[in-house]
Amino acid sequence: MKKSVLEVLNGHRQTVPPVWMMRQAGRYLPEYRAVREKAGSFLKLCFTPELAAEVTLQPVRRFGFDAAILFSDILVIPHALGRTVTFVEGEGPRLDPLKDALAVGKLKKVADGSVLAPIYETVRLVKAALPANTTLIGFCGAPWTVATYMVAGHGTTDQAPARLFAYQQPEAFAQMIDILVEASVTYLVGQFEAGVEAVQIFDTWAGVLPADEFERWCIAPTQKIVAGVRARVPGAKIIGFPRGAGFGLPVYVERTGVDAVSLDWSIDRDFAREKIQSRVPVQGNLDPLALRAGGAALDRAADNVMHAFSPKPFIFNLGHGILPDTPIAHVEQMLKRVRGN
Ligand code: CP3
Repeated sequence: MKKSVLEVLNGHRQTVPPVWMMRQAGRYLPEYRAVREKAGSFLKLCFTPELAAEVTLQPVRRFGFDAAILFSDILVIPHALGRTVTFVEGEGPRLDPLKDALAVGKLKKVADGSVLAPIYETVRLVKAALPANTTLIGFCGAPWTVATYMVAGHGTTDQAPARLFAYQQPEAFAQMIDILVEASVTYLVGQFEAGVEAVQIFDTWAGVLPADEFERWCIAPTQKIVAGVRARVPGAKIIGFPRGAGFGLPVYVERTGVDAVSLDWSIDRDFAREKIQSRVPVQGNLDPLALRAGGAALDRAADNVMHAFSPKPFIFNLGHGILPDTPIAHVEQMLKRVRGN
């Protein structure tokens, strides 16, 4: 049986584009909230294979998505490098902020394999339970985006702490990025060996950097990860998601060697079609707020995305993660619109 997401990643357009959603396992689902409560903490959920596998499978069961994305978080890597990571209810991640070169020097050089082992077990459990035509996608955060949380200790809107750190202490920052590159390669290879069929590299904060800094802190490290993973997993399928990269996208595609690009919702569609989809398959672009809104606005937004990208290899997805207050009925409406049933 064919896996439509893998078909697209191999450059074969599907008559009906495959569909999945970033953050498809999450708080908009009552069955997720129930398991999340049972787990106690968010990290406990990530590190308990039976529970993480269950929430990975929930959206596939409910909606018949064409891909499952491993349930975990990008911040398990700083955790495996010896940083303290917690999640505060309703607020998001908290890490002990990484202030200077001294603190960078104290980072583990290699991610602790025993921290990551349960995540590989989750992959094995999910793989064994997935329908034959559903693709299993693994992921990691790109070094730049992970570093923004490590430096600030929490989410910010402009990533000023990490940008300032990179300007003031570029050598220490480069050292941190190098450690993250190595850890990410190990982590993604571990996921492939456990059974994922493609991976996505989330660079959520790529868009806050000037072009030269974007090349240095986003493109170059991602290129190293792609090469490092493919050296150990030949032909590994890799999707890049440099959110907000805008005019930097074509250079990103050319230099990193990713197989496909996930598009945020703000990109100009003609530009993306001409400069990106002419070279690699694309995914995404639906504004998560259009999904939140539902009704005619959602139909129109989904049609516009389909009209722009479905004539060529395309995976239907959002331009970023689904919002927790999105009604389930809107997801069903979106699927009907895309699949025409
Ligand atoms: O997409 C999926 O369904 C797979 C699981 C997944 C999660 N986080 C689960 C999660 C993935 C791929 C991520 C990636 C991630 N995590 C990114 C990159 C993509 C993006 O969304 O920007 C980032 C920046 C993080 C860091 C992170 N994790 C933040 C900022 C937060 C808090 C914000 C929020 O929505 O609460 C998290 C927590 C988190 N990660 C949740 C989920 C389902 C919500 C936690 C909960 O259930 O209480």
